[in-house]
Amino acid sequence: MKSYRFSFFLRLIIFLFFLPSFLYSQLDDPIYDYYDRFHPVVGEQGMVATQEKKATQIGLDVLKNGGNAVDSAYAIAYALAVTLPRAGNIGGGGFMMIYSAKDKQVYAIDYREKAPQKATANMFLDVSGNVNEDLSRYSILSVGVPGTVAGFEHVLKRFGTKKRKVLIAPAILLAENGIVVGKDLSESLKRAKPRMMVSPAAMKIFYKKKATFYEPGDILVQKDLSKTLKMISSKGSKSFYNGTISKEIAKYMKNNNGLITRNDFKSYSIKERTPVKGSYKGLDVYSMPPPSSGGVHLIQLLNILEQFSLSELGHNSADSIHLYAEAMRVAYADRSKYMGDPGFVNVPSEMLTSKSVAHKIAASISLDKAGNSNTIYPGRYFEPKEGNETTHFTIMDKFGNVVSNTYTLNFSDGSKLVVPGTGILLNNQMDDFSAKPGVANAYGLIGSEANSIAPGKRMLSSMTPTIVFKDGLPTLATGSPGGSRIITTVLQLVLNTIEFDLNIAEATVAPRVHHQWKPDEIRIEKGISQDTIKRLKDKGHIVVTKRAMGSSQSIVKKGNYFYGYSDPRKPNSLTLGY
Ligand code: DON
Repeated sequence: MKSYRFSFFLRLIIFLFFLPSFLYSQLDDPIYDYYDRFHPVVGEQGMVATQEKKATQIGLDVLKNGGNAVDSAYAIAYALAVTLPRAGNIGGGGFMMIYSAKDKQVYAIDYREKAPQKATANMFLDVSGNVNEDLSRYSILSVGVPGTVAGFEHVLKRFGTKKRKVLIAPAILLAENGIVVGKDLSESLKRAKPRMMVSPAAMKIFYKKKATFYEPGDILVQKDLSKTLKMISSKGSKSFYNGTISKEIAKYMKNNNGLITRNDFKSYSIKERTPVKGSYKGLDVYSMPPPSSGGVHLIQLLNILEQFSLSELGHNSADSIHLYAEAMRVAYADRSKYMGDPGFVNVPSEMLTSKSVAHKIAASISLDKAGNSNTIYPGRYFEPKEGNETTHFTIMDKFGNVVSNTYTLNFSDGSKLVVPGTGILLNNQMDDFSAKPGVANAYGLIGSEANSIAPGKRMLSSMTPTIVFKDGLPTLATGSPGGSRIITTVLQLVLNTIEFDLNIAEATVAPRVHHQWKPDEIRIEKGISQDTIKRLKDKGHIVVTKRAMGSSQSIVKKGNYFYGYSDPRKPNSLTLGY
């Protein structure tokens, strides 16, 4: 009796002792971890992450109305062409990764611009053989044949469920009735003015009378663009590649010594490519193959870094950043020589993404001492077989589909040239070619023969739309703008979530680092501690703090929930879920 009473009291005491923490744990919302400093947006049925609020809302409405991720992507792409003119586009090109839940397949859609038929290898060299950057970046010759309209038409036909007209309607309304100018747009147009002045059609649209500025709160109407969008809405990409719009662009080219002809438009085609596939600690990574260098080098970098215990070394510790820099040094050296349009050159993708080559590279890295870019040369670790503006958006829907899309005009507002009467801003993507072997492009990227200019060739890109799978199901989709920094930004998002177990908000806001072989320096964002910088310098690195890198838009799927986050590095981005 006595012992029974004793054990009853003992149990009661234990129960009362643990009761408060049990009750507290019941108060915890399972979606949030109260140890986390930043929290992602949460959704149960679908999620959209883009760099501009209106476009995000439009994309989410498509999902809510029963559309799938590709329908939503189509609506977003045209909305961004109106609301984010510096990067959203119909006069540019890009890459899209799609996961189709129905056939359990990942697709890589290449709608990159092409060099016109009249393009020549030396078209950007002056009489002394030097690269004329004004020509490759700011002239009518900098324009590649646009691919965006063909790209989105293709994916809508192949994977979409909604009508083109319905999806494009919000963009038409925004162009016709005008958008409220925000601080971001107002400032970007102020910055663009000196270059835009070469294009009277651009000045008419993006500036008020007497070339004065649109200020925050003003309404920006894009009547010509709305006309163009209506044509695309009723006739589809035919109107762009084989009708009125291509006629207008070809006429503008002819009158201004440009190279693009109606035949260039007629012969433009998108390509469905086999995604490049790798793995990191048991998770499968699918990304964009050449003519983007993004996927190949992302996988090469993950393969190298997998050889180290990064999480033990610590997130953004000097040792981890050192290893990133050494791996990046090798990857960007390889990029400079081997990467180009696979329709024109043999790209050794298999070698570059092989685990065994990565082992060799990892083994060559000293943990204590920085390498030297002058002694690292392309292809050092394998025998090759012979022979400021982009934007990303990510969507996941309730059907299990995923879209990860990066598209661009290259620079902010591309070439700054608007084709009169169309409202279309043209890209300056020709600068992504290597104008001369060994001479850097606008992002400091050095290229070679593999990326030289040739008629009909696609210029090499760094865009890295990516989808990561766990046990056969998508768990992370991400991508970013940022020129040469795109690959390393996506790398760090993948490592931050998978290796360091940060939630997607924390993975996004964490300070980023970058090394691209040449210049031989680690570029860092503000937020890396002084003693980390000192330790990196002690290892022999040059460390420079420069402006923020990237504008990622990411979604994670875990259990029944979507967790998303838009990069706060750009002011107007927004993730919404429902
Ligand atoms: O395709 C590329 O790699 C470049 N044209 C992307 C440019 C870019 O990301 C500029 N944005 N910050």
